[in-house]
Amino acid sequence: MSDAMNVLRLGVNIDHVATIRNARGGLHPDPVKAAKQAALAGADGITAHLREDRRHISDHDIKRLSREISLPLNLEMAATEEMLEIALRHVPNAACIVPEKRQELTTEGGLDVAGGKLHLEPYVLALKNKGIRVSLFIDPEEAQIRAAAEIGAAVIELHTGSYADITGHDHAGELARLQTGASLGQSLGLEIHAGHGLSFDNVVDIAAIPEVVELNIGHFLVGEAIFCGLETSIKRMRGLMDEGRGRVLGIKTA
Ligand code: PXP
Repeated sequence: MSDAMNVLRLGVNIDHVATIRNARGGLHPDPVKAAKQAALAGADGITAHLREDRRHISDHDIKRLSREISLPLNLEMAATEEMLEIALRHVPNAACIVPEKRQELTTEGGLDVAGGKLHLEPYVLALKNKGIRVSLFIDPEEAQIRAAAEIGAAVIELHTGSYADITGHDHAGELARLQTGASLGQSLGLEIHAGHGLSFDNVVDIAAIPEVVELNIGHFLVGEAIFCGLETSIKRMRGLMDEGRGRVLGIKTA
């Protein structure tokens, strides 16, 4: 078993701290403070999605996150000219390209890389040329995974939303799709991340997919923090991720 398989990073998405702040239009709660607490609680990175409509994270948040946090910043963004200019200005460690629709409540479905190659290939290159690690948020579909490798992305983040939403027999099918996708992606030289809709109840099986090296989790962690605090919420998630990863390594956890 390679050392790489031991590693499972947690990227904490702080968008919904900003959602609560924006409900009153003031400064509290501060997503940058949450990012600092997440670092103390054991997060390996901070993720923030600057949406076109700025419904949660603001331009000023991105500026502060770039300057004030020590953890790597993963900027989620749509593949627009405006976002490219912002990413090139702040140079986050990573950029995760996501599809964005104005009316959606959250990111629904993955990016159509196979259908958008002409636009996405130079876009990815522009970010790469600035030293930004590019990830594409896609559904676990063979055509999308192959297209991501073809256009030169370093990373794919597999969309776990369908897996998180489905129960019963189909749940196993969705998990199998993610497992197959992760394995194909790695065979094509891609680094594999996963995220969306992950919670205490469903994270272990995803953490047990050996090719996955990073999970990005937000809504559940912030919601749970209302009941137990952000530190406890993150530490419990970290513990469950370790339990899943322990399965891969044949380690039993208490
Ligand atoms: N990964 C990506 C690419 C996302 O767009 C989101 C949602 O912003 C997440 C992970 C986190 O999803 P959730 O908030 O459901 O944990």
